[in-house]
Amino acid sequence: MGWTDTHAHLADESLADQIDLVLERAARAGVSRILCVAVDARSSEAAIKIAEKYPQVWATVGIHPNYANQAAETDWERIQDLASHPRVCALGETGLDLHWDDCPFPIQQANFARHWQLSRDTQLPLIIHMRDCEPEMLQALDEQQALEEQSKAGVLRGVMHSFAGSTEIAARCLSLGLYISFAGMLTYKKSVELRETAKKIPMDRLLVETDSPYLSPEPHRSRRPNEPANVVFTGKCLAETIGTSAQILAEKTSENASRLFWKMM
Ligand code: NI
Repeated sequence: MGWTDTHAHLADESLADQIDLVLERAARAGVSRILCVAVDARSSEAAIKIAEKYPQVWATVGIHPNYANQAAETDWERIQDLASHPRVCALGETGLDLHWDDCPFPIQQANFARHWQLSRDTQLPLIIHMRDCEPEMLQALDEQQALEEQSKAGVLRGVMHSFAGSTEIAARCLSLGLYISFAGMLTYKKSVELRETAKKIPMDRLLVETDSPYLSPEPHRSRRPNEPANVVFTGKCLAETIGTSAQILAEKTSENASRLFWKMM
């Protein structure tokens, strides 16, 4: 098995308009699976359509924190229904964001909490977005872990996507049961600390992603849109950083993806 890009917004029009070419380039680069990540009800439906058409693509359903105040109650009902679709293997992306003030924070917190409830109901993992809100995120995760403990083993199912936090935050997330996913930022020259953090993460908790169409890795940093084929550059950088071969890391991170996103084959 090749690489698994665990986070690509293929329904974004910059990629959707050339989807056949994008997927062809990904296959040629050695990317065997792609998780198409939604940000609202509309893109959740679009992600499922893409995943129904292309066997190497899987879908998520969920509401991004920056769009939580635009979501109608019927949107959330739709997402709950879609979560049981056979091609849906995760919820999100969701989480918390204090960088942009698009959506009032209490609405983001409530939106995040209802995704966790749906995760407990469906056993689907969460794709977690965190920006400029580390203390608030840790508090929310602790609360969810306490709720999880009441029903199950107390381990959270999910991934901190496009991770850019500190080693300490990574350690806390790992102890809660979460996976850590790296995107193109890992390849940037100035990301010295982030690469130091990556070295300390056990290999069985690592994932890679592009966050396409954003965050193009080196050497294509200025090129937009980013696309799943480029996950190979982040993967190679991560392999070099932790001192293993690209081939081994591709296998390991894909195995990790299969374990976390258990519906994904
Ligand atoms: Ni994203």
